[in-house]
Amino acid sequence: MKKLLFIVSAAAMLIACESRTYEEISDNTPITETVTYTKDVKNIVDNNCIGCHSAGSFKPLTTYNDVKTNIDGILDRIQRANGVPGKMPQGGSLSQSQINIFIKWKADGLVEN
Ligand code: HEC
Repeated sequence: MKKLLFIVSAAAMLIACESRTYEEISDNTPITETVTYTKDVKNIVDNNCIGCHSAGSFKPLTTYNDVKTNIDGILDRIQRANGVPGKMPQGGSLSQSQINIFIKWKADGLVEN
């Protein structure tokens, strides 16, 4: 019985480690290509931000220029912890891999295409 328990818990640990490793890989795979607005960033903003940050709103994020000129504010807001006031997207959160795209976009020089 003890032996069985040991095997079961060893298997559970193995599965836990495995899924964690998978998550780490899927969330933090280094981005090797140059990140561009058109290819990578626009889609994330369109799906998570422009519901509130539409053209003509208090803080539009609908064009390359809008997103580029606000990149420092965006990086600050999207990396705030859950529950910290001002975290964006308001009421939600981007995945780590989506956040990494914004970080790399800035590091790559905020390229448009
Ligand atoms: C549900 C509505 C909503 C969504 C979705 C949303 N925001 Fe916001 N955002 C707001 C509101 C309201 C404010 C103003 C209040 C504040 O500053 O927190 C704001 C403020 C900001 C500011 C600060 C603007 C400034 O300079 O004063 C930034 C940057 C920002 N949002 C970026 C984003 C990004 C990037 C996303 C998508 C990942 C996003 N927001 C999604 C509602 C939203």
